[in-house]
This record gives sequence, C-alpha cells and structure tokens, in this order.
Amino acid sequence: MKTLLTFYSRSGTTKRVAEEVAKALDADIDEVIDKKSRKGILGFFIAGYDATRGKTTEIEFEKDPSRYDLVIIGTPVWNGRVTPAIRTYLLRNRERIKNAAFFCTCAGRPGKCLEQMEELWGKKPLLKKILVRKSLDEGIKDIVEELKALC
Ligand SMILES: Cc1cc2nc3c(=O)[nH]c(=O)nc-3n(C[C@H](O)[C@H](O)[C@H](O)COP(=O)(O)O)c2cc1C
Repeated sequence: MKTLLTFYSRSGTTKRVAEEVAKALDADIDEVIDKKSRKGILGFFIAGYDATRGKTTEIEFEKDPSRYDLVIIGTPVWNGRVTPAIRTYLLRNRERIKNAAFFCTCAGRPGKCLEQMEELWGKKPLLKKILVRKSLDEGIKDIVEELKALC
C-alpha cells in the first residue's frame, strides 16, 4: 500500500510523531506550511482565535495525495480544534484522498479536533488517534502498530 504522511506542526511535536511514524511505515512524508506567521505570543493567540473561528489559511505542500492508497494526516490541537492549515488541506484535497487515517497531538484536551477532521473530509477515516505530549513515545508505538495492521 502506497502511503503518505502529511502533517502540520507549529512547535515540533507533531513533526516528531510524523517523522517516526513515516519511517516505521516506509511512507512518504509531506509537511504543510502555514504561510501566516504563528510565532511568538501574538502568533499563539491568533492561532487559537483562528482555530476557534474555523478559519482557513494560505498553505503550501508538495505531494499529490491522489497518488496514494492511504493518507495519514496529523495536526496539533488548537483550542480543542483542528489547525487552520490542516482544515485548509482537507478542504482542498477532499476528493483527492482515497483512504485516510487521522491523528492529533495535544496536551491532553483534544476537544473535537478529530471529529472536525472527519467532517471536513466528509468520510470515515480508517483510524483516529490522539497522542498526548507527556506520553508521546507510547503513543507513537501504538499508532505505528495500528497503522501497520491497516497497511
Ligand atoms: C494556540 C494553541 C492552542 C492549543 N490548544 C490546546 C487544546 O485545546 N488542548 C490541548 O490539549 N493542547 C492544546 N495546545 C497544545 C498543543 O496541541 C500541543 O502542544 C501540540 O502537541 C503541539 O504540536 P506542535 O508542536 O506540532 O505544534 C495548544 C497549543 C497552541 C499553540
């Protein structure tokens, strides 16, 4: 099964998960870049506001998801919601994604992030997984096992 792992990460946690999972599954990897600056304290507050308001944003990514059998998509949780970058990615690629698995990383309060991802894509993903920052290694081990069973 040809697999792509697409992710957005503001501060590196989701990126670490994405890199480890992609390596374990021998999947291609693609980072979604949010063109809006999310840096610093102001960036933090605007990030939360934009996620809460369900805003989209200007993004860049490289790989065409329609060329893959499975697209694994990872996002941080912002105010219990999906990030604007992954919201935009899902809306833009709705028709190009055949099968999906979703994961989010958070500090322990995932809110409705994964449900939003499902709604935005409009189909049921093969897997939805929450990874909590303080038990990241365990979370990575679990998601790799669950994804290997799918691939
Ligand atoms: C604007 C903002 C809002 C956040 N809101 C939540 C939240 O609602 N629940 C939670 O558990 N963590 C929340 N977090 C923490 C992040 O989800 C968590 O640290 C995540 O792993 C960061 O991923 P990254 O390093 O890939 O950006 C928030 C972080 C930011 C920057």
